[in-house]
Amino acid sequence: MRKVFITGASGLLGRALVREFQAKPGFEVLATAFNRVSAGLIKLDLLDFGSVAEFLGTHKPDFIIHAAAERRPDVCQNDPEATKALNIHATKNIACIASQIESWMLYISTNYVFDGTSPPYTPVSVTNPLNLYGESKLEGERTMWKNVVSGGILRLPILYGEVETLDESSVTQIASALVAQSEIGIDDWANRYPTFVDDVAYVCRQMLEYRSENSEFSGTYHWSGNQPMTKYQMAHVMAEVLESTVDHIVPVKHPPIGAPRPQDCQLDCTDLKALGIGKQTAFLEAIRITLSSIDGVFDL
Ligand SMILES: NC(=O)c1ccc[n+]([C@@H]2O[C@H](COP(=O)([O-])OP(=O)(O)OC[C@H]3O[C@@H](n4cnc5c(N)ncnc54)[C@H](OP(=O)(O)O)[C@@H]3O)[C@@H](O)[C@H]2O)c1
Repeated sequence: MRKVFITGASGLLGRALVREFQAKPGFEVLATAFNRVSAGLIKLDLLDFGSVAEFLGTHKPDFIIHAAAERRPDVCQNDPEATKALNIHATKNIACIASQIESWMLYISTNYVFDGTSPPYTPVSVTNPLNLYGESKLEGERTMWKNVVSGGILRLPILYGEVETLDESSVTQIASALVAQSEIGIDDWANRYPTFVDDVAYVCRQMLEYRSENSEFSGTYHWSGNQPMTKYQMAHVMAEVLESTVDHIVPVKHPPIGAPRPQDCQLDCTDLKALGIGKQTAFLEAIRITLSSIDGVFDL
């Protein structure tokens, strides 16, 4: 039995990770959260470095998947200190402990480490984050490599999947706009690659299984959905699923206001595919699963 410690287990991706690892034999899951500690989750404040060291020292997991982060670009931009504390300093603490207890750490990162001017991006492409969120995640990557000998980084683009509320993912937020029926502008400027969290969780499990068989496995990897879409284009697919109109949705052809965003951070996923790792559910199918999972909101 291999022990997997998951941070951010109450979050959008974390919940999918817990479902994936709990459903498969051979893994014991230690799932931690902070404010949203529902059944099966353990409360652990990642900013309390001593408690994290004590917890990891006691349980000595074989693997750490570090998914907790502040990932809302505008929140990051407005609160740099809190962002750095969680995205950089807490990551450094976990990496140091991982190295001491010989646990293999997988750090979840973002395609926002790139500036979006020359896609597609491979794991060795030049990074140049445009906003504080991207900067802090890149610094998190660097601090991990300074402190672990072997580990993994998995960069991801915009995520969606089973949500607690439509506001939780910027993909499902589009569905709120669709049903509201009042005129609203939706971004038709940035090319996104919406990625289903269940596919990411599947990929993470495959990476950990691959590492179990291949002790040299280490490095930075990319995973992504394979359909380029602006949010405006996603709205059209969602309208098909919800059988709603799009007449009130106006395409916005310029960059959004707020923290600067890259225009196209397509991630090249060749390296994981070459190892036989990967899953890419079609957007139409995955968004139908996502929207039908929200109790009592849509009649699907
Ligand atoms: N969402 C995206 O579109 C996207 C895109 C690319 C990459 N990523 C990356 O994917 C990862 C997961 O993102 P997500 O969307 O699942 O995030 P999320 O839904 O915002 O969840 C954030 C998680 O961090 C936890 N957390 C916050 N402060 C904490 C603290 N002090 N101690 C312990 N836990 C704390 C939260 O716990 P509580 O809620 O219980 O407090 C929550 O579980 C992140 O590393 C993010 O950078 C996300």
